[in-house]
Amino acid sequence: MSVELHKYFETNKETWNKKVDVHAVSDFYALEDFKKGKTSLKKYELEALGDVSGRSLLHLQCHFGQDTLSWSRMGAKCTGVDLSEKGIALANELNKELEQNANFVCCNVLDTSNFVKDKFDIVYTSYGVIGWLPDLKPWGKMIAERLTRGGTFYMIEFHPIVWMFDYIEEKPEMRYGYHQKEVIYEEYEGTYADPNSNMISKEFGWNHGLGEVVSSLTEAGLTIEYLKEYDESPYKIFPELIEKEGGMFVTRDKLYPLVFAIKATL
Ligand SMILES: C[S@@+](CC[C@H](N)C(=O)[O-])C[C@H]1O[C@@H](n2cnc3c(N)ncnc32)[C@H](O)[C@@H]1O
Repeated sequence: MSVELHKYFETNKETWNKKVDVHAVSDFYALEDFKKGKTSLKKYELEALGDVSGRSLLHLQCHFGQDTLSWSRMGAKCTGVDLSEKGIALANELNKELEQNANFVCCNVLDTSNFVKDKFDIVYTSYGVIGWLPDLKPWGKMIAERLTRGGTFYMIEFHPIVWMFDYIEEKPEMRYGYHQKEVIYEEYEGTYADPNSNMISKEFGWNHGLGEVVSSLTEAGLTIEYLKEYDESPYKIFPELIEKEGGMFVTRDKLYPLVFAIKATL
């Protein structure tokens, strides 16, 4: 890895470590409700993966483990991976407190196969993940390495069009290329889970078009079952989105989708 790339990952890790403290007490992550049994999973992933009971599941970029533990409470045998030591430490605490038997591993997601040797029935990743990775080829390869033959990969992610906007501004402005190769640096006060926090987020990210995402998976040997694009997002990613029934958000004119999902098999 180049010195430059190492610096980007280290900066992102520092920011995510700080975010864990802020997110753990945020209304957004509603940790007390979660502890009482509320799932953190949203309708898209719940419908797509269905009954996970008895299945092994690898959750990539698991933050502090809410989704991992939600799948675990549904009977899956889960492993969560994340770059942030603080995220993994909190995930381990929650695992103990909630009497689950999930396993959590702290590493760069691209290095997962160096740290996790098991193969899984399901590899899952969600909402705000691939933008932290400079190149999706090693990511696709790692997913193929960690799936059992016939296993399912499912991702639910914000649409690449969404990442073209600088949404730190009050009115999102289209500023970045749909699949630009150059790194994007952003520095701002607060986080998506608590915009009023005075923590400073310093982040290096990359945009990836749908073609790159799909190709990184097919070139690694996966077969795409579907690629779906949705107008409705379970998260209010832009300030002016309109809330619909069931806690979903849409743009006023629905000119572009907010979320996409891929289901693939090995
Ligand atoms: C937006 S969060 C994922 C959100 C997730 N759906 C949740 O449970 O809230 C992105 C996660 O990616 C992690 N991350 C960022 N870069 C990473 C990398 N290179 N390797 C592993 N994890 C990374 C961050 O630490 C963070 O936990």
